[in-house]
Amino acid sequence: MEVKTSLLDNMIGVGDMVLIEPLSEDTFIENLRKRFDHNEIYTYIGSVVISMNPYKSLPIYTAEKVEEYRNRNFYELSPHIYALADEAYRSLRDQDKDQCILITGESGAGKTEASKFVMSYVAAVCGKGQEVNKVKEQLLQSNPVLEAFGNAKTVRNDNSSRFGKYMDIEFDFKGDPLGGVISNYLLEKSRVVKQPRGERNFHIFYQLLSGASDDTLQKLKLDRDFSKYNYLSLDSATVNGLDDAASFRTVRNAMQIVGFMEDEVQSVLELVAAVLKLGNLEFKPESRCNGFDESRIKDKNDLKEMCELLGIEQSVLERAFSYRTVEAKMEKVSTTLNVAQAYYARDALAKNLYSRLFSWLVNRINESIKAQTKSRKKVMGVLDIYGFEIFEDNSFEQFIINYCNEKLQQIFIELTLREEQEEYIREGIEWTNIEYFNNAIICDLIENNKNGILAMLDEECLRPGTVTDETFLDKLNTVCAEHQHFESRQSKNSKFLTDHSLPHNCFRIQHYAGKVLYRVEGFVDKNNDLLYRDLSQAMYKANQSLIKILFPEGNPAKVNLKRPPTAGFQFRASVGTLMKNLLTKNPNYIRCIKPNDKKAAHIFTDSLVCHQVRYLGLMENVRVRRAGYAFRQAYEPCLERYKMLCKQTWPHWKGPAREGVEVLLKNLQVPAEEFAYGRSKIFIRNPRTLFFLEEKRRQCLEDLATLIQKIYRGWKSRTHFLLLKKSQVVVAAWYRRFAQQKKYQNIRSSALVVQSFIRGWKARKLLRELKHKKRCEEAVTTISAYWHGTQARWELRRLKEEARNKHAVSVIWAAWLGTKVRRDYRKFFRANAGKKIYDFTIQRIMQKYFIGLKKTMPSMSPVDKSWPARPYGFLDGTHQELRRVFHLWRCKKYRGQFTEEKKATYEEKLAASELFKDKKALYPSSVGQPFKGDYVEITKNPKYQKLNSLVEDKVLLADVVSKINRANGKGAPRIFLLTKKSLVLADQKTGQVKASVPLLDLSSVSVSTQSDGFFALKLKEGSTSAAKGDFLLSSDRLIEIITKLHRIGATSADRNQINIDISDEFLVQFKQDKVCVKFIQGTPKNGNGVACKRKNNRLLEVSVPSP
Ligand SMILES: Nc1ncnc2c1ncn2[C@@H]1O[C@H](COP(=O)(O)OP(=O)(O)O)[C@@H](O)[C@H]1O
Ligand SMILES: [Mg+2]
Repeated sequence: MEVKTSLLDNMIGVGDMVLIEPLSEDTFIENLRKRFDHNEIYTYIGSVVISMNPYKSLPIYTAEKVEEYRNRNFYELSPHIYALADEAYRSLRDQDKDQCILITGESGAGKTEASKFVMSYVAAVCGKGQEVNKVKEQLLQSNPVLEAFGNAKTVRNDNSSRFGKYMDIEFDFKGDPLGGVISNYLLEKSRVVKQPRGERNFHIFYQLLSGASDDTLQKLKLDRDFSKYNYLSLDSATVNGLDDAASFRTVRNAMQIVGFMEDEVQSVLELVAAVLKLGNLEFKPESRCNGFDESRIKDKNDLKEMCELLGIEQSVLERAFSYRTVEAKMEKVSTTLNVAQAYYARDALAKNLYSRLFSWLVNRINESIKAQTKSRKKVMGVLDIYGFEIFEDNSFEQFIINYCNEKLQQIFIELTLREEQEEYIREGIEWTNIEYFNNAIICDLIENNKNGILAMLDEECLRPGTVTDETFLDKLNTVCAEHQHFESRQSKNSKFLTDHSLPHNCFRIQHYAGKVLYRVEGFVDKNNDLLYRDLSQAMYKANQSLIKILFPEGNPAKVNLKRPPTAGFQFRASVGTLMKNLLTKNPNYIRCIKPNDKKAAHIFTDSLVCHQVRYLGLMENVRVRRAGYAFRQAYEPCLERYKMLCKQTWPHWKGPAREGVEVLLKNLQVPAEEFAYGRSKIFIRNPRTLFFLEEKRRQCLEDLATLIQKIYRGWKSRTHFLLLKKSQVVVAAWYRRFAQQKKYQNIRSSALVVQSFIRGWKARKLLRELKHKKRCEEAVTTISAYWHGTQARWELRRLKEEARNKHAVSVIWAAWLGTKVRRDYRKFFRANAGKKIYDFTIQRIMQKYFIGLKKTMPSMSPVDKSWPARPYGFLDGTHQELRRVFHLWRCKKYRGQFTEEKKATYEEKLAASELFKDKKALYPSSVGQPFKGDYVEITKNPKYQKLNSLVEDKVLLADVVSKINRANGKGAPRIFLLTKKSLVLADQKTGQVKASVPLLDLSSVSVSTQSDGFFALKLKEGSTSAAKGDFLLSSDRLIEIITKLHRIGATSADRNQINIDISDEFLVQFKQDKVCVKFIQGTPKNGNGVACKRKNNRLLEVSVPSP
């Protein structure tokens, strides 16, 4: 058996008291002290957790700790309350066993804290989710609300629960919380009106006054000052370490989370305020005429405010405090209340108001946290009931509280000590009995129906006649005198007659946890728990709905004359139900121990702890535990749970369960001393054996889960595979069909192609044959046609020949006849008809000729050379003459339309023609040029204005010419002006006259025959102008210049004719020298222009491109 970690590791003292050696009270307490000193506040006795109150906060409740203890075996880690909580939660979740966690211990031992740790642990480890978290939050937040209203500072505990609380937390099958139910047990309501010295009223009063806003306080008509309120004890109004203001905010917030409506909270606070106001009511006596004292309220202000708060008519309440109405058998008797009775009524109302409000709060919380589902729930009960209390002055409340603790101890004894031992005996397990104190006898003393103290009290309360606390004590003294645990001074038992520690008005009970002295004063009253009907009816008349709910008996429609059950009776009944409830659940114990009475950390008072260890029966617990077995279980469920650990028992065991378990344990080789076989149960001594079994089972379950998974997966895969296979077959079939179809279609189409080809081929062959046959037939036909044709033509020819021959004969004959006839006729005709016919014919021909000529006349242009063709040869002469006449006429017409100017131009052109036609090659190019005369616009051009003014006569010609340089033959541009009398050469750019030669001095002009523009102006020898020599010029308009020059000479008065000398070689007089200008044809080197070159002194050669 191997456990990975253990509570034995790093242990301080021993973690489990079962292991302590030797076992004695001293070693037990020493172990507790040692662990306490090391802040190890938890120690086990088997599965019971002992918790020491550390009175300081320890870092052992963190989230990490929660994780550490989560899902771990109880003994795996060092002792902790979380281990117990985890064990309980897991048993609940996994084994479906309802659990209860019983937290016991004295007041201030840490029960309430423990219950909160358990709840917070369970909340942390159980399921999560929005809904679940809300439930958890509501369950947890119910605590601060109940603590504020139900807890108070006592001398033992600053936060002592003054009510018993049992909370059932409900879970679903998964272990998620569904909701809860809270039961409260007997609130210590006397605290509302009076608190022992050093103690406080319930927290809520102080919290409200410190924490509420000014606004709220004003609304509640309260004052922040505690001293203003009679019900608040002042000596310990503030408690160290308690921040009432902050707590108030926490409470408000918690109420909101739990689901209180805003108006509900307001009503609750109004009631709390009303209680405080009620405490301030004071009464004064007022004598009445009938001699009775009557009470009056002293200061009605508080009453007024309270009535305003609760919405009660002031007079109604005032009357309720003054009178008491007793109803009996349809009779109503009203009596006045004296001052003491008025105070009693006031306090009774305050107590009732508060305790009913508290019960309402619990119910309201229950309503909010109620599980929403009706399905079966698993339940974990947490019991945090007020602890055993021994005060200086113990009253009815302590009696009740201690009774409750007796009952819990009883349960503990029942389940852990007696039940366990009895079970061993019942099961036939060898067992040596262990002595322990059974407190059943004390329980009996208190709760026995016949002569129990509570029964006596009830009897006394219900008894007619005067009933006082003293009569009650007397009764006890007679009835319980014999009881070992009852002690009273006046009991028959003389033992206490001299016991001065036992006052006369007291009785003492030896509780399991010690002797407690109870003062009987108030027992009867508190048990009666009387509230005058006038008050409850007054309350019922309130406007505030909550008050109406709290005092249902005040409803006049439901008058109930029956006495309500007494407080003791109610409590006994509810404790009874609680015990029954707890017995149905699997108990988990937390036994709280208080280390000192000073609420101080680090102090360990041996005597105090020893006392608690004793009365809690912890030593006996250890002894039973050590002697006994940690675990037992009936054979059937045991076998059912572990049968998978052995082949013989798995999956089914045929024989009896016990044998099955025996086989199982043998098979698992569990040592024999570890277990014992009872009659119906197997007992396992050590928890480790159980854990071993559990661990084995867990592994086995894992294997089984794997097996199931394997089989399931196999099955799933198989079915999947089969499905795939089936699908594959379908797909394959479809595919094959498709493929075959496609193949078939391919083959078919190929066959069709082949077929069509063959058919085509065959058809073509047939066609060829047929064509051949047809051609043959045609050929035959043609041949035969030809043959027939030939034959026919032969025949035709022959016939034609025959016919021609016949015709020729007839023609020859006819010709012969004709010739013969014509010969005869000619002789006759020639004699007279010939001349007439001839004339007529000629006439007709001429007519036709002229008409035809008229139609085909050429155009009127003198240059048009066309002329219609001659139709008859004999008209040749006429035709030419007509042409000439027509041309002359046409020319005359043409000339007739000329102006004088044009005429002169044409005359010039004519003169040019006469001069140069066929003499100079340049001439043809000039024919098309009009002789414009002025080419430089001498009159208009401003450049030549001066030049123009110098020339006297009309300018006949003005042009730019090249003056050939005598030295090199190169030309220079000059303006050439010609007037009737002279010619002028001027500079082209400036217009300055270079030379002016009178025409009279000009003897001749020489030009070449070629197409060049060179001309030499030769001057008369001896004339004035001749001094400079002749001019050799060149111009494109040579023809025009020379023609004009020549015409001036011809028309001038003195008839000075200028000779025109046309030759390719001429002499020019340059100053003294005569130079020969020679024109040659040839291709000049530079382009096709004319080039002039001075060859030598005597020769100037001009090469002219050949035309
Ligand atoms: N585990 C703990 N850790 C720290 N302080 C504790 C612990 N248990 C109890 N106390 C202190 O002891 C005080 C009394 O505890 P409480 O649970 O109210 O006692 P009980 O309910 O038994 O009367 C608490 O107010 C707290 O200060
Ligand atoms: Mg408590």
